[in-house]
Amino acid sequence: MTMDPAKIKKIAVNTGGGDAPGLNAVIRAVTLAAIRQGWEVHGIRHGYRGLIDLNQMMRLTIDRVRGITHLGGTILGTANRGNPFEYQGENGTIDISDQVVENFHKLGLDVLICIGGDGSLRIAQNFIQKGIPIIGVPKTIDNDLSGTIITFGFDTAVSTATDAIDKLHSTAESHERVMVVEVMGRYAGWIALNSGISGSADVILIPEIPFEIEKVCAKIREREAGGRHFAIVVCAEGAAPAGEGMRTKGPKETGREIQLGGIADYVAREIAQRTGKETRALVLGHLQRGGSPTTFDRLLGLRFGAAAIRCLLEGKVNVMVALDPPGVKTVPIEEAVQMKRVPLNCDTILTARSLGISFGD
Ligand code: F6P
Repeated sequence: MTMDPAKIKKIAVNTGGGDAPGLNAVIRAVTLAAIRQGWEVHGIRHGYRGLIDLNQMMRLTIDRVRGITHLGGTILGTANRGNPFEYQGENGTIDISDQVVENFHKLGLDVLICIGGDGSLRIAQNFIQKGIPIIGVPKTIDNDLSGTIITFGFDTAVSTATDAIDKLHSTAESHERVMVVEVMGRYAGWIALNSGISGSADVILIPEIPFEIEKVCAKIREREAGGRHFAIVVCAEGAAPAGEGMRTKGPKETGREIQLGGIADYVAREIAQRTGKETRALVLGHLQRGGSPTTFDRLLGLRFGAAAIRCLLEGKVNVMVALDPPGVKTVPIEEAVQMKRVPLNCDTILTARSLGISFGD
């Protein structure tokens, strides 16, 4: 769809879903680039909450976005719950999307820049159907969005995980233990794969390759026989033994995705029982979402933010900006929300196999 840029006076920006390093860089670039066009910029706090309770809107000015590029989290706050199409009211789930649309128009907003992962971009698609012009910006540490080579937040999460794996090596080697570390990524193994290779893991378990625990143990025994009495196993939270489902924490709560977790405990226990090696399991958890974005994520966030405004100046709406080196392009939002999993024949998997890293298959 197209929109006459001359009609744009006021834009809004929101951040939805899990926080990811680089969100503030996007907010800054959107704000500065829009203000240079003479547009007003308004932040919607906590996903869509600011469009439900108007007291939670925040005017974004040059001063408000000063010095935030390097900060983790989001100055706007975010929300995993609060989908206006399935809102958790006191008497159950209700659809309050019309109220959100009404408030959007009441505030005189022309366009929404929606910074989010698959969940937030799906909500954005529904608002497009209701006539709100939207530009999507792909965010997630999981890197599981199609249409873009990479999402911002991923590089920082991989750096944090790699750093942790580096640190685990000393205990693993000193105590002759098998250290099993669980990293995030939901249904995709990107974080485990990239950090596992960079951190010299011996075994990497990802959702895309169902594993056999005996094959994992075979790798540990092979190392043992070669005089390497320790090992590092990196598990994606969504990894699962062949024929079994992913490990989850507790029952599914209404209005949110099921929480994954527990695979590292399982793998560590099985390795201990089957090989007699001492094992320890560690879950990196939300450390991967925190901290200052890497230079790569800051720059990508700034590029995405500036590209979103350029898109509007070209008259384009209802698309997502995406990295397509050396440039930034736009793709339909419906393409972006398709899950991007690790292709089994990708160069990174082949590299791991050449290095002798086991996937337990
Ligand atoms: O999508 C980002 C992510 O960090 C996933 O890797 C993880 O499964 C999930 O969010 C955790 O969500 P929450 O913060 O709700 O526990």
